[in-house]
Amino acid sequence: MLHHERLKPPAQDYPPNEWSVIEKNLRPEFMAQMETVLALGNGYFGMRGVHEEGRPYVQNGTFVNAFYESWPIIYGEEAFGFAQMGQTMLNVTDTKIIRLFVDDEPFELDTASIRRYVRQLNMKAGTLDRDLVWETLSGKLVRIQSRRLISFQQRHVAAISYEVTTLNAAAPVVISSEMLYRMPGEQKAAEDPRQAKFVGKMQPRASRARDGRIVLVHETERSHMILACGIDHDLKSDCPYEYKSDHTENSGQVVFTIKAEPGRPIHLTKYMVYHTSKTENADEMARRADWTLDRVVSQGFASLLADQEEYMDQFWRKSDVQMSNVKAERARLSTVEVQQAIRLNSFHILQASARAEDNGVAAKGLTGQAYEGHYFWDSEIYLLPFLIYTSPQTAKNLLRVRYNMLDKARLRARELSHPGALFPWRTINGEEASAYYEAGTAQYHINADIMYALRKYVNATGDDEFLFEHGAEMLVETARLWYDLGFFSKRKGGKFCINGVTGPDEYKTVVNNNTYTNLMARENLRYAVETVERLRAQQPQALEALTKKTGLELSEVEDWRRAASNMYVPFDAATGIYPQDDSFLDREPWDFKNTPKDRYPLLLFYHPLNIYRHQVIKQADVLLAMFLLSHEFSLEAKKRNFDFYDPLTTGDSSLSSCMEAIVALEIGDFDKAVNYARAALLMDLADVGGNVKDGCHIASMGGTWMVLTYGFGGLRDYDGTLSFRPQRPPEPESTLRFPLTYRGRILDVEIGPDSTTYSLREGESMTIRHEDEEIVLTRANPAVKRSTLNPLKIAG
Ligand code: BGC
Repeated sequence: MLHHERLKPPAQDYPPNEWSVIEKNLRPEFMAQMETVLALGNGYFGMRGVHEEGRPYVQNGTFVNAFYESWPIIYGEEAFGFAQMGQTMLNVTDTKIIRLFVDDEPFELDTASIRRYVRQLNMKAGTLDRDLVWETLSGKLVRIQSRRLISFQQRHVAAISYEVTTLNAAAPVVISSEMLYRMPGEQKAAEDPRQAKFVGKMQPRASRARDGRIVLVHETERSHMILACGIDHDLKSDCPYEYKSDHTENSGQVVFTIKAEPGRPIHLTKYMVYHTSKTENADEMARRADWTLDRVVSQGFASLLADQEEYMDQFWRKSDVQMSNVKAERARLSTVEVQQAIRLNSFHILQASARAEDNGVAAKGLTGQAYEGHYFWDSEIYLLPFLIYTSPQTAKNLLRVRYNMLDKARLRARELSHPGALFPWRTINGEEASAYYEAGTAQYHINADIMYALRKYVNATGDDEFLFEHGAEMLVETARLWYDLGFFSKRKGGKFCINGVTGPDEYKTVVNNNTYTNLMARENLRYAVETVERLRAQQPQALEALTKKTGLELSEVEDWRRAASNMYVPFDAATGIYPQDDSFLDREPWDFKNTPKDRYPLLLFYHPLNIYRHQVIKQADVLLAMFLLSHEFSLEAKKRNFDFYDPLTTGDSSLSSCMEAIVALEIGDFDKAVNYARAALLMDLADVGGNVKDGCHIASMGGTWMVLTYGFGGLRDYDGTLSFRPQRPPEPESTLRFPLTYRGRILDVEIGPDSTTYSLREGESMTIRHEDEEIVLTRANPAVKRSTLNPLKIAG
């Protein structure tokens, strides 16, 4: 069911564009959302789309991935094994500030008379551009053009090109380029539990200014992380100017005073760098900031921009999903909007992940502090498929980040009296940081989610080296945990049951036999068995090393096999429903009829007990399993379960719509599918969930890509072969195109209303399936065309 409606920003102020998000008017009611949507980042650091002048803003955030403060979680009532320390990604030093004065009159966007204004997120170039004309109180016209980028090529670097031209008169101009660490105020209760709860402070450790350069170094109080950031400048103008710099421990400014002549541009380039460390001292980090600044200043903005454009070009070549309408005059606007939203989603995933490298990807990327900058299963189940098929190196990095958490996951398992490893439900540094265990630690399925993503990665890349060197160890430890957690229950005919866990649906907690968990745990156990067997057959030495490292005994593998083949999967034969858990069908249905629309998401308006005791679902749970393990369910079962679960699913989590869309497409419920697909697609651009102000929904963005490829494209890849059952694209006459990187090849898929074309863009040969036919593409025969129509085969 869809309870959320999209916001409709006026098209004259936000005209749709295929390659940009454009803002032509400053509307205070959309300011917070635009700060999120227009945020820039590269996976290492990010800045919300706040104007250079600093004002006005709603949340002015600059974030460095995994740069966090830790804090003791205070429980009203403690219990053994509760997570002890919270972690919050901090809002760090703001380096983008540039303030402008003409005739000593400050340029303040909220009060200034603006004659022309356009700001745009340019997704082709990877920049945030603004062009405006300001009329001062004395009638002078001043054009201000700026372009901001956070470099994808150079992880630590951002830059702003800021050009001021007085158009009709000479005037004294002052440009004050600043950096500022705003000491946060006191901690206050968040009005929404999803918002960050903690405000951490950094302490100054070093600061210096030399010529047009300032470097400030800070340290967090508890986690003892060091942040060094610096700014440097290059001003070019025919007009005479001078400058001076100044700094304190928490701020710095370089002030340029210029005698501006009409029509003669003053061009300031500002370079900004961020470096962090857990181990180095303040001086060393200040030096690193200096070195990076030396390099980028001599490189110059034009070259940084050219690198950025080149990077974007490469990105789009491998990732651009296109939805075009061959009859351009029909539904033109909606096609442009759809294309814009598709690209925005892909672009934000890039910005969240590209240079994350040894860090994870937070639920909001680097666009906001909500969810404290934590990494969740969002990465493995929602984001990794996109990365695996467009940027396998980034996917591998994310899996390696999990591997690096394995020791902490082992410790966490011990705290919960288990052997093996238990990955944290939410974390930055690898330690469990969920303070509400019912919807946190109890989500044991995180273990299986990570292993599911590992399998998908290995299948799509053929990277057995990663599987054997890192994956196998994670598989052994996660399989051990499942075997210990579950038991062969006499009351359930000796079946392997897993009790006391929470599944994906956070509106039911600590339940017995959550179907999703049991199915995914079975997958995890099976993959562990399979991998140990492959090692035994193919790499006995690697198996020996693994055995040494983990103390693995071969009898354990037999146990896992037994648990997997006897896994209990709840099923209600009378209705054909897979109950979400043992007790789900006994609960009273939620009274949707008498729940006003403004009481969603329910979690903000009802005590958890009210929600828990009813049949009401936050996000796809059984339906998600039916997609991830699609081959284990018949089409009839999918249809029956969709019809049962869909009306109970609120979509209060943004992770839901995309999954509902995919299942709806598979069972041929086209109208519902299109509605869900739209909700997922527009989650951020049209603020479907109402909280875009707090950051964008990276999981839904990845989920949208899955709607297009797995949903409309009918892609399935479980056994490592790519198979397709394309659906007609949503608008009549339209075409859907997407590329997939697969084992070093690139495949282009183009789905039109009548036919689908598969072309091998790179690589020697590739075998795929279309419907039930096997197709071999080769260099000699790189493209084939087949009929699109997918006759649905639902019996009964
Ligand atoms: C969802 C979780 C998700 C988290 C972060 C919650 O609202 O229920 O499944 O991992 O948000 O996106």
